[in-house]
Amino acid sequence: MNFLLTDEQEMIRKMVRDFAEKEIAPTAAERDEEERFDRSHFEKMAALGLTGIPWPEEYGGIGADYVSYVIAVEELSRVCASTGVTLSAHLSLASWPIYKFGTEEQKQTYLRALAEGTKIGAYGLTEPSSGSDAAAMKTTAVEEEDGYVLNGSKIFITNGGVADLYIIFALTDPELRHKGVSAFIVEADTPGFSVGKKEKKLGIRSSPTTEIIFENCRVPKKNMLGARGEGFKIAMMTLDGGRNGIAAQAVGIAQGALDAAIDYAKTRKQFGKAIGQQQGVAFKLADMATKVEASRLLTYQAAWRESEQLPYGLESAMSKLFAGDTAMEVTTEAVQVFGGYGYTKDYPVERFMRDAKITQIYEGTNEIQRLVISKMLLTE
Ligand code: CAA
Repeated sequence: MNFLLTDEQEMIRKMVRDFAEKEIAPTAAERDEEERFDRSHFEKMAALGLTGIPWPEEYGGIGADYVSYVIAVEELSRVCASTGVTLSAHLSLASWPIYKFGTEEQKQTYLRALAEGTKIGAYGLTEPSSGSDAAAMKTTAVEEEDGYVLNGSKIFITNGGVADLYIIFALTDPELRHKGVSAFIVEADTPGFSVGKKEKKLGIRSSPTTEIIFENCRVPKKNMLGARGEGFKIAMMTLDGGRNGIAAQAVGIAQGALDAAIDYAKTRKQFGKAIGQQQGVAFKLADMATKVEASRLLTYQAAWRESEQLPYGLESAMSKLFAGDTAMEVTTEAVQVFGGYGYTKDYPVERFMRDAKITQIYEGTNEIQRLVISKMLLTE
């Protein structure tokens, strides 16, 4: 067993950290305040190869592994969790299912464009009345001679409105419930597709989250992803990896808050000495650092298992559960270390705390992760 990163993984960490600190961090607070997505950041990530990290070069990727991918999401999230989830949703939720289930033509057309970063991807599963119970979706896709006609709506779509293509799950055979779900690649300029309400959120405010609407939206038959009726399985398998991307985002947020708290604890003096020299604060930092490291190890392990083609669904659910809860705890404690200053926008820790909350909610709430984990334990 070897816990050292490879030279390539170290190189990617250094490259993404430099990029994040120079290009992303300076405007993170301002974009959060203004709820502003900056497409030029995505284009710069594309120029570095980040938008296609784990895909083979034949599909426009850079042929690195999933550990490199989670390191990239972690490093981006360490300064800006919105940028972290933009990349995570693009890679895990939109590109991965095409890589795994797409035809050669779909890969050459869509995966390549996503990998090269000329298109942004998104994923649409959730609906107003089907969140945790994903199989209860209502959006339909009716087969006609020249395509499938989609009607319905999806909500809480990460990259909504800025994405160029969406992986959409809809009922082709409603009477079969989850076995009647199929997956489609829908381009944003398809007639009948529109973007609805943009959410105003507590955190990850520079990552757009919107509703998307299908009104007699006709999708060509060749854009069905996988086989008819295979959509629910594709949705679930996609989330298996997506959840580890969110774990990486959570690790990055927590690390960013921990770094800020350590710096502050070294310089802030009360009762004649640095607050970090006082055990109440020092022990807090020790607990925070331990939980961040445990989260990182779970996350890297799940990514490594995926790269090694070992089962990773259980490990992904565990990493998202533990890292999400850790991010919430560590960021809350970081605000506490800063005291009154931490509660203001003069320091980044309040943003980290607001951003952390979503990691316990999206890509399956942490209660759903407990359900997934316990089901696997009890059926093995
Ligand atoms: N891999 C492969 N197949 C899977 C699977 C997996 N991980 N999980 C379930 N399945 C299969 C089952 O084997 C079963 O197949 P058969 O019918 O052939 O036996 C089928 O799917 C149904 O499984 P369940 O009976 O377990 O399904 P369920 O309806 O009870 O739901 C659930 C299970 C785990 C609760 C699921 O609904 C779920 O994950 N819910 C949470 C949804 C979620 O995570 N939403 C996030 C939205 S995306 C998002 O948040 C994106 C973003 O903004 C960034």
